Amino acid sequence: MLAVIHTPPRGDGTALRARLAEDRSPSGVWRFGELVLPSAVAVAVSHPEGNTPLLSRSALSAWTSIDGLRLKHEGHNPTGSFKDRGMTVAMTQAKRIGARAVACASTGNTSASLAAYAAHAGIPAFALVPDGQVTTGKLAQTLAYGARTLLVDGDFDTCLRLLQEASAELGVHLLNSINPFRLEGQKTIVFELLQQLEWQAPDWIVLPAGNLGNTAAFGKAIDEAIAWGLIDRRPRLAAVQAAGAAPFAAAFARNFDRLDSVQATTIASAIRIGAPASYQRAVRAIRSTNGVVLSVTDAEILAAKVAIDRAGVGCEPASAASLAGARKLRSDGVIQPKDVVIAILTGHILKDPGILQEIHGPVSIAPALANPPVRVAASIAAIRAQLKSPPSC
Ligand code: F0G
Repeated sequence: MLAVIHTPPRGDGTALRARLAEDRSPSGVWRFGELVLPSAVAVAVSHPEGNTPLLSRSALSAWTSIDGLRLKHEGHNPTGSFKDRGMTVAMTQAKRIGARAVACASTGNTSASLAAYAAHAGIPAFALVPDGQVTTGKLAQTLAYGARTLLVDGDFDTCLRLLQEASAELGVHLLNSINPFRLEGQKTIVFELLQQLEWQAPDWIVLPAGNLGNTAAFGKAIDEAIAWGLIDRRPRLAAVQAAGAAPFAAAFARNFDRLDSVQATTIASAIRIGAPASYQRAVRAIRSTNGVVLSVTDAEILAAKVAIDRAGVGCEPASAASLAGARKLRSDGVIQPKDVVIAILTGHILKDPGILQEIHGPVSIAPALANPPVRVAASIAAIRAQLKSPPSC
């Protein structure tokens, strides 16, 4: 597998930290350009992206019993997911090498991001997505930004396999996270949160895991942050999978002896992946950070999502796997009460309007969590009666 290798500058990181503090780039990816792709900063295809908030919410600290819980909300990116950070770098590189066309297989967020950045770069784009398994919001974005979208009669793993074969044959530039430039951009989630924490490494970074590109990128970012003197100790990574799509968690439980792919099923369609492409690099990331991999059930994901939504923060279901995982690790005693824990929210609440309908609509899949709309007559008496009894917070 190809990787981008950087040579750390001499010194203890003080000068680099000072340069980063001064940088006024509108992009939270290209601000870290010298740790990402130094030669491309001036020609970046940028919307711009990054600069996402690090939030603390007392309701969610209480829900997880972790006082030092913070949420890094990647749903604040231009297309509503963390994928924009890797896409700006990979699309910049595709443009530099004169790619004729770009393509990805996707559960929806990568395709939305690919489409938006390809439009900006002026490069034709193809997206292969599993028919009927991509949320309305993501499919709408991919179409609207102009990618030629192929609805494939198969799952994500099939889409990726087919695309790898066809793109090699036809010379179409592949922009899945096996593309090393994607990982370079995704590293900046870690750099940015470390900068927001004034370069004090947290104890844990917890993230949802599907195809494992992000887990791999986080491991590389932590290695480099140490090598460049930005931090002096490694945060531990916790990668969280959905129970019905958890080949990485199963391999971790067997000390990574092998990867057995699975037929993936989960309500968190973004991480409905059974044969993760970046497995080897993700194993290295977990090992080098003394990390853990776990799975959470769909019911746990739903409960976490509703807690995040009700805190006024909101996210798509896959993102909530991180909070569900943090809560589980705390209740199992792996995360300690005073630990500083960063949970990554990977995508925006509006990415998946369908699940909101299913939770809050007339026939709820989780009645205890539902906030159904109240149909009322157009009369002052009816409105008055309602306003007299506010909902609970
Ligand atoms: N969260 C969200 C919202 C995602 O869209 C994805 C992956 C992940 C987490 C998992 O990240 O694959 O790097 O382990 N989405 C890909 C896509 C597969 O096509 O949009 P990962």
